[in-house]
Formats: sequence, structure tokens, C-alpha cells
Amino acid sequence: MSSTGEAPGKVILVGEHAVVYGLPAIAVPVWEARATATVSPRAQGAGCIICAHDIEREIELSRADDREPLALVARLVLRELSMDPDPDLQIDVRSQIPIASGMGSGAAVGAAIVRALYMHAGVVPADSVGSALVYRSEEVHHGTPSGIDNTVVAYGKPVWFVRGKAPEVFTPPCSFTLVIADSGVPSSTLAMVAGVRSRHDASPNEYNAWFGEIAEIVANARRAMETGNLHELGELFNLNQDLLELIGVSTPDLERLVEAARVAGASGAKLSGGGGGGNIIALVADYASERVANALIESGAKRVIVTLVGARG
Ligand code: PMV
Repeated sequence: MSSTGEAPGKVILVGEHAVVYGLPAIAVPVWEARATATVSPRAQGAGCIICAHDIEREIELSRADDREPLALVARLVLRELSMDPDPDLQIDVRSQIPIASGMGSGAAVGAAIVRALYMHAGVVPADSVGSALVYRSEEVHHGTPSGIDNTVVAYGKPVWFVRGKAPEVFTPPCSFTLVIADSGVPSSTLAMVAGVRSRHDASPNEYNAWFGEIAEIVANARRAMETGNLHELGELFNLNQDLLELIGVSTPDLERLVEAARVAGASGAKLSGGGGGGNIIALVADYASERVANALIESGAKRVIVTLVGARG
């Protein structure tokens, strides 16, 4: 008998970059792009193998070292469950989440493996346990990850996140639709964060004032989500985009997409994540999602995902 676990991708809704300076950010799950892991038995003595189909890799657990995040997360779960460290199991991993696009694909694959192995053992993992296990495997790739990715994918709910504090998971009373568009321009979050750091250090007063404004936007965005005021949430996206432009992480490509989304009827749009490339997100009324998605493709987006936030859990 096989057991399957799944986990969503994620996007940062508001507060990116300012979050590095100790201010809050909100991230939300993207269930329309998800990772799944299926655990099935193998012949006796065959050991454990992880088949990562999207990257065409087969990882033999007994031979992989801990720098391999998929092997590490499986090992951590087996230890947590006091199971054989090399059980006769095959773990098939598949993901619809674009890799290295700021959508948390690594964390989601890890969370799917955690869930599938727990299901196989007949145990339902607490979200907090799944989140902590994924965090430890994320450290391999990201050094000291902020913790936002593992939290949002393990809980599968919107997260209010402040660095160094326990994340708060919250559930908006009504769902809303986001269109996520990939500019197709690769960008390094690390380089974008370093650029902001050097400009911040050269003009700390100016940057701290902008970060303060972003923090206010994030607090208002949470209130708008909790009261279902989607018109206000859209306006807050636009204000956050203005500030992201001021801190120098937007680009003409991203701004063309943001503008196209607004013209096509989005109530607000902004870049999401590190900037310099990567994704934009647009808040849309349900009926406008197709129009906005088409406009984004016509304006050069390489891929568009439409997601309903808050519809689940
Ligand atoms: O591109 P993403 O989704 O990994 O987000 C980066 C968010 C930043 O605030 C720019 C960096 C960070 O570590 O929080």
C-alpha cells in the first residue's frame, strides 16, 4: 500500500526585503502548484530510494550524505519516528512548482516527503513538527533561512512572519484570487538582498523610513485580509510596489507586467520576492483572472499561475 503527502508552493504577499531588517512580511500558500511524495514498499533488503522525477535523480538513502536535502529530510523523519534508517521503501517525488523561482519548491518537496513518511507510519504530523523538520533540511541549501518558506508550506495557510519570532498562521475569512506571473528573468535573491544592504548602509535614514512604510502596509494588509477588504488589499499591493521601486529592486520588465495587470483590471499588483526578475503577483476579482492572465502572457510573462488564497484550511 502506498501513502501520499503533498504541500503547496508559496509567494510573499507583502513585506519582502523589509523583513530582512526585522519587520513583518506575509506569505501565502499556492495550492495550484504543489509538490507530492508517494511512499511505496520495495522488496525486502532493497533499502530506501528517493526518485526525484522532475530533476531525473535517484538517491539511495544509505549512500547519500546530509548535504542532499531530500535525503536529509527523509533521514530526519525516520529518526523522529524511530524507524529503520534504511527502510525498504521507494519515495517518488514530483513537483509542479517552478524551481528557483521564489515559490518555495525545495521546502514544499521536503514537506511532502515529511507528510508521506508520516502517513506511511500511520501518524498525522503536527504542522509545527513538519515545519521544523523542513527548516533543518533547508539550512543545507540556504545557510540561515528566515523560516518563512517552511512555515507557509508546512501549515498551508497564510503566515505573518517576523524574523526570529514564532510565525503566526492566520486564516482570512474569505478567499481571494492571485495571478502569479513569471517574468522569465532569472535573479539571485542573495544579490538583491546584498544590493539593498549596501544602499541601506549608505543612506540608513532614507531606507529605514521606507522600511517603516512597508511595515505599515504589511500590518494594514493583514487587517484587510482579515476583514475581507480586497479593494484595500489591492491598493496596498500598489503602495508596496512603489516602495520596492524606491529601494531599487524593481525593473522595467517587472513594471511592464505590473502595469499590464492593473490595466487589465487587477485591483493591485507588485513584484513578489527578491525582485530584479522572478515573479509579480496581481490581486484580481474572480471574473477578471483570465483577462489579467492573458494580458500578462501578452506582455511577455513566461508562465502564469492563478491561485485561490484562503480557500483551503
Ligand atoms: O525570492 P523569495 O521568495 O525567496 O523571497 C526573498 C525575500 C527577501 O525578503 C527579499 C529575502 C528574505 O530572506 O526574506
